[in-house]
Amino acid sequence: MRHSGVVPPSVPPRAPDAAPASGVGRADAWFAHPGRSVAWERRLGPLDPLERGRLAALREPMAARAYAVLHVLARDVLGQVVGAKPGQLVFDRTCARCGDEHGSPRLVGHPGVHVSLSRTPDLVAVAVSTDAPVGVDVERVAATRFAGFDGVAMHPSERSRDLDDAARAVSWVRKEAALKALGAGFVVDPAALRTPQPGRAVLVLPDRPPVTVVDLPLGDGGHVGALALAAAYGTVEVTAHEAPGD
Ligand SMILES: CC(C)(COP(=O)(O)OP(=O)(O)OC[C@H]1O[C@@H](n2cnc3c(N)ncnc32)[C@H](O)[C@@H]1OP(=O)(O)O)[C@@H](O)C(=O)NCCC(=O)NCCS
Repeated sequence: MRHSGVVPPSVPPRAPDAAPASGVGRADAWFAHPGRSVAWERRLGPLDPLERGRLAALREPMAARAYAVLHVLARDVLGQVVGAKPGQLVFDRTCARCGDEHGSPRLVGHPGVHVSLSRTPDLVAVAVSTDAPVGVDVERVAATRFAGFDGVAMHPSERSRDLDDAARAVSWVRKEAALKALGAGFVVDPAALRTPQPGRAVLVLPDRPPVTVVDLPLGDGGHVGALALAAAYGTVEVTAHEAPGD
């Protein structure tokens, strides 16, 4: 979770407005545990030069391992989805704001295949949907345990001493998944957003499509996760997969 330097102070607080919803949106999510991956350094062949550069720049060993495991997994999964070798896949990561290659990943040549990535040192996730743009976020519950989290991340109407760390983390991942599905990320002040409720289509940003968020049952008390589709669905169904060999 990065929570500094991207929060413009001028965005007024706003609540997600309910949007008319219908039908079922579907997505798949794959999870891997970088700590269990013993041979990750031998599996980097499919990565492109940008991915190799980002990996080389990560000095913290656990962060580097998580980055590598995530991007190898993304290429494995998407290669199977579109019937290509992992190393043949080309990603466009052009940032909508500045044009640099650090934005939402799009699979070149496959505009109907939507993908989203998230990583922590010990759990990474790849989400794919052919129904709508997708956003996924996984987070360590412990990452919310710092002084000032509520001021940075929680809408004023939702700040409460009664919230435990897991509830704070769930709020965070729902917001981040929703903003990723919209391709926005935290150029929006997270404290200006009320937490999207699962299974309820909402307008998070006024000029973007509605999003429908679901919580991801990770079966892991140390992490929480959420997935969002950028469309108004009555239900979002997520099929979860463990990464092959994880
Ligand atoms: C997207 C974002 C919320 C991810 O935050 P995070 O908790 O640190 O990281 P996560 O591991 O959950 O997700 C990272 C992935 O999100 C994806 N991503 C990056 N920007 C994204 C965006 N605008 N929308 C959707 N996904 C995005 C990338 O695939 C990235 O993976 P990688 O770093 O391994 O290549 C955060 O990086 C952000 O807010 N970015 C936008 C900031 C921005 O646009 N600033 C203006 C720059 S000019």
